Amino acid sequence: MWRVGVITVSDKGSNGEREDQSGELLRRMVKKIQGEVVCYVVIPDDLETIRETLVRFCDGKKLDLIFTTGGTGLSPRDVTPEATQSVIHREVPGIAETMRQKTSMKTKYALLSRQVSGIRGSTLIINLPGSPKAVQECYEVIEPILPHGLEIMTGKVTDHNKK
Ligand code: MTE
Repeated sequence: MWRVGVITVSDKGSNGEREDQSGELLRRMVKKIQGEVVCYVVIPDDLETIRETLVRFCDGKKLDLIFTTGGTGLSPRDVTPEATQSVIHREVPGIAETMRQKTSMKTKYALLSRQVSGIRGSTLIINLPGSPKAVQECYEVIEPILPHGLEIMTGKVTDHNKK
């Protein structure tokens, strides 16, 4: 069972003006890869708050995988990618690149997400855009590679030839 965290980054979500559907969607979807959402928060679009939450989930809670949703766009309040970049030790660019590129065939606005992905310690952090539709589309692209990626990252599998 992979220990998963979901961080919904939304000013409106955090002050109760908007219900968070994307977090609930992720909770259901990760079950398919034997993931369980054990930590979940809704926080405002604030760089320090996002940074602190990511570090707490990685270093304190020792999660295997964290999804952030929201705050990846072009508005001045969208700082999730900057917060993520500032805490990761190693970037895994292919995950974010491929979500953006493949889903842009369906939704041209996918190019407006600045989402990034990378590793802090032994936690994989993946930014997703905020809307449930975007979360669903992006998650479907990366779902097939997540189990092997997590197995390699955590040292549970060392033989790549088996894939
Ligand atoms: N990616 C996919 N696959 N599907 C979408 O509908 N919406 C885009 C983009 N990425 C979208 C998507 C839109 S409209 C925006 S503004 C950006 O994500 C940023 O969204 P965010 O600020 O909620 O993270």
